[in-house]
Parts: sequence; C-alpha cells; structure tokens
Amino acid sequence: MQLPKTMISEEDIRKRVDELAAQISIDYADKDEIVLVGVLKGAFIFLADLSRRLSIPRHIEFIAVSSYEHGSTRSGAVRLVMDVRRSIEGKHVLIVEDIVDTGHTLHYLIDMLKSRNPASVKTCTLLHKEHKTEVDVEIDYLGFSIGDEWVVGYGLDYDEKDRTLPYIGMIDPSD
Ligand code: IMP
Repeated sequence: MQLPKTMISEEDIRKRVDELAAQISIDYADKDEIVLVGVLKGAFIFLADLSRRLSIPRHIEFIAVSSYEHGSTRSGAVRLVMDVRRSIEGKHVLIVEDIVDTGHTLHYLIDMLKSRNPASVKTCTLLHKEHKTEVDVEIDYLGFSIGDEWVVGYGLDYDEKDRTLPYIGMIDPSD
C-alpha cells in the first residue's frame, strides 16, 4: 500500500511546535497555570508534543466532539461526546485543536467553554484550511495554513486510518 504524499515533514512539524510552545510560554509567563483542553481524537499527538515543550505550569484536559459521520461526509451540527473533568471557572484555558476546517467545531467549543466563566479562552490549532471557513473563529496560535486537501497523520485520520503517521500527508478520499 502506498503511503500518503508528504505535505508537512516531521522535522517541519517539530520546529513549528517548538516555536508555538515558546510563544505560549512567553504569553502565559505571568499566569499561575494554563489549562490545555485537547480536542479528541485528532489533537492527542499535537497536545502531547506541545505540552511537553511548555515552560509554564500546565494542566491537561480532554474534550471530544463529533461533527462527521464517516470520513469527510458531514453529519450536521457539532455534538459534545466527552466533557472536561475539572471545572474551568477562573482558569486560563487554551483549546488545542488538530485542524480548523469550516470553523464550526472551534466556534462551538469557544462558546461552550466561555459560558463557564473561565479567566480567558484562547485557541491553538496545528492546521487551518483558511479557504473553507464558514464561521469566523479567532485562532490565537496557528501552526500552518493549508489548502483544501484532506490531510492525515500526526493525530489526523481518514476513517481511523493513518492517524499515527509521523508526518502530515494528503490523500484523496475519493480514491
Ligand atoms: P470544522 O468543524 O469543519 O472546522 O472541522 C473540524 C474537525 O474536522 C477537525 O477537528 C477534524 O476532526 C475534522 N477534519 C477536517 N478536515 C480534516 C482533514 O483534512 N483531515 C482530518 N480531519 C479533518
């Protein structure tokens, strides 16, 4: 079986994650703690790498949402599948996403988490398909802007396939 074509190499991901972690560490240097909310499943590898490179106190939480039925076929509205386990009231929250496509997922998460009275909510995504935006969302920390291709690897999948590829590859879901 052929491996997906490389879009972003392991080395380029590593460098960019280092830069993002350095910037976040500077921006939150005066805070007691940051709560990283990783969006499952896609963000688990990005969150693992990013969180280990921060030089500030951090607490890890996960949240799971569902917006697709199979592969790239939309199922409709965003649905909460698993919530964080600790209250975020008064906390500085950083949502960590794998990819922002239409923006619906991140928009839903920002609104939901902001309604719980945190001290702040910011967003960090490894990838952004900027031409596919349907809802504007503020991305505070961005790894890479990409085109409209379906991407896999480094946590991202197509029907659960290719999630653990060490690089970001692109596939054609119609193949
Ligand atoms: P949005 O709500 O349209 O922004 O979609 C965000 C979610 O769609 C991401 O968290 C991914 O789970 C999924 N997604 C969108 N594009 C891709 C892709 O190219 N590869 C893998 N997952 C994707």
